[in-house]
Amino acid sequence: MGRVMAAGFGVLCVMAIAAGGPGSVVNAQAPAGQAKPPALTSAQAKALKNPAAADAASIAAGRATFAKYCRACHGPTGLGDGPAAAAIKDVKPSNLADATWDHGSTDGEIFNTIHAGIGPKFAMAAFQGRIPDAQIWNLVNFVKTLSKTAK
Ligand code: HEC
Repeated sequence: MGRVMAAGFGVLCVMAIAAGGPGSVVNAQAPAGQAKPPALTSAQAKALKNPAAADAASIAAGRATFAKYCRACHGPTGLGDGPAAAAIKDVKPSNLADATWDHGSTDGEIFNTIHAGIGPKFAMAAFQGRIPDAQIWNLVNFVKTLSKTAK
């Protein structure tokens, strides 16, 4: 029993560190089945290279994934006005169609936002493990088409 509690406490600690905010931890891969790895630092996220060309096929795949996992909060055109938005307290789903990226505008940063979520409350959940990385890159290509600052 003591051992089980100690293990549980360890997981909680890792989760607390993961929620500690940008720059507070060095990214470390958690062993499978344990707490998810913390978000990358901004520099680490920026260094990620998008392996998916932003072509019509990738954007279409991203649009389909967005409809399934994201539209309820972010709305059909990304304004943050989806039907589930009203139920979230404190923080509103970001407007993905405006000119501002609050959590970073590079492909790698947008990937990291979707992959790791946004702490500490994670109203914007982490989609790692639910959406394969290749599909998250398609989502990056799609959400950039919503934004006024799409490059
Ligand atoms: C349960 C509601 C919800 C769902 C579902 C959701 N989001 Fe979010 N999202 C949020 C909230 C809330 C924020 C703002 C969080 C903050 O700023 O603390 C956010 C922020 C973002 C941002 C950051 C925007 C910026 O300006 O930097 C991106 C990108 C994003 N979401 C993409 C997605 C994608 C892609 C999906 C689907 C895979 C998705 N979200 C699903 C609620 C949601």
